[in-house]
Amino acid sequence: MTQHDPQPLSKETLSLEHYWMPFTANRQFKAKPRLLSKAKGVYYQDTAGRPILDGTAGLWCCNAGHSREEIINAVSHQIREMDFAPSFQMGHPLIFQLAQRLSQISPKGLNKVFFTNSGSEAVDSALKVALNFHRANGEASRTRFIGRELGYHGVGFGGISVGGIPANRKSFSAQLLQGVDHLPHTLDIETNAFCRGLPESGIEKADALENIILLQGAENIAAVIVEPLAGSAGVILPPKGYLERLRQITKKHGILLIFDEVITGFGRIGDAFASQRWNVIPDMITTAKGLTNGTVPMGAVLIDDHIYDICMNAPKDTIELFHGYTYSGHPVAAAAALASLNIYQNEQLFQSSKQLENYFENAIHSLKGLSNVIDIRNFGLVGAIQFSPSQAGIGKRAFSIFEECFNRGSLVRVTADTIALSPPLIIEKEQIDQLINTLSDAIVSAD
Ligand SMILES: Cc1ncc(COP(=O)(O)O)c(C=O)c1O
Repeated sequence: MTQHDPQPLSKETLSLEHYWMPFTANRQFKAKPRLLSKAKGVYYQDTAGRPILDGTAGLWCCNAGHSREEIINAVSHQIREMDFAPSFQMGHPLIFQLAQRLSQISPKGLNKVFFTNSGSEAVDSALKVALNFHRANGEASRTRFIGRELGYHGVGFGGISVGGIPANRKSFSAQLLQGVDHLPHTLDIETNAFCRGLPESGIEKADALENIILLQGAENIAAVIVEPLAGSAGVILPPKGYLERLRQITKKHGILLIFDEVITGFGRIGDAFASQRWNVIPDMITTAKGLTNGTVPMGAVLIDDHIYDICMNAPKDTIELFHGYTYSGHPVAAAAALASLNIYQNEQLFQSSKQLENYFENAIHSLKGLSNVIDIRNFGLVGAIQFSPSQAGIGKRAFSIFEECFNRGSLVRVTADTIALSPPLIIEKEQIDQLINTLSDAIVSAD
């Protein structure tokens, strides 16, 4: 077969043996593959030609739906105009334009942007910026980081060190960053099960930060990093007042606060960023995914002016940050991001997610009472259903529900015994119904 063979590739004609798939049970997948070949709007199509309703915006990224003409045109135009420009010592207008556009939608004061190619790189970059800032600010002893249990911050060594998902750390534990502490996670099913929106109880979990500061000394701590709403570990919500308290404590001790908004950015919970929806402004925001509507890899760190200004306190001809990527600010990604921002703005998608959230909340909570459902959590257009583990082992029940949903034409996301939903923000009420009905049937059939 040539590269341009028009024959559609299917699981019957394709060799699956060479590709080592990420975060996938490779042998299980290859024995029973799920292959997607097309996408438009809120639907995928699999290689058998079946429509698959996208309940996950791809992987939390295609917020404006799939294969949007505006992005296709912008990207193809940009490749024709200029496919690549060196990112070190050179620039191109689009990326400056994009940084300016991002500063217009970012929380107050976060007006500087460092570009990366993924969420993981954004996290590692933010950690480095934090160290660079304290050093430039005359506080070089501030080197420690504080993450949170069950946090997911990508897969770089920085990200897994501040992250708190045991499976992602275990094999690499001997080489994780030194000098990292973890806050307790905020999932408390016993107290908060089936709460709608943010849990009332749990603000005191933020006070653990004071204990860590007491133990390690504020003068040694560079930054705290948390997801305002943790997605990957199964949609864990911040209790009411929790993020505000983290902000108060970090401010009091001169510690930077980083919100990892790789999932919550670009309208997922009803504003450009969770920071704005919950009115808590960190010193940096890491983002990716929805930035280009998932079309071209790109991540970014949004940085407070004060951090940038301090880091610029050096002779004018010196490099202020010895960090960057060949593809930082790639022109094709920049074109995709600008086109995505135009769609978000023209279609007021951040607001539409807010408008749909009550409907979505009622729909997802209608699954309460089905067998083995032990919790349902939601905010904006993100939600999760948690199951009791089956006798076959942790994660087995949710995985079979995920498979069953796919067989019945809906894509949902599975992590451990949780099914998460994060549909494109253009989803309509009937499609939310379709998603929930499929899920309900799958839960019943998996029982
Ligand atoms: C909160 C958060 N941070 C970082 C990442 C890593 O992003 P990427 O997979 O683009 O490296 C993710 C990915 O899901 C994420 O959810």
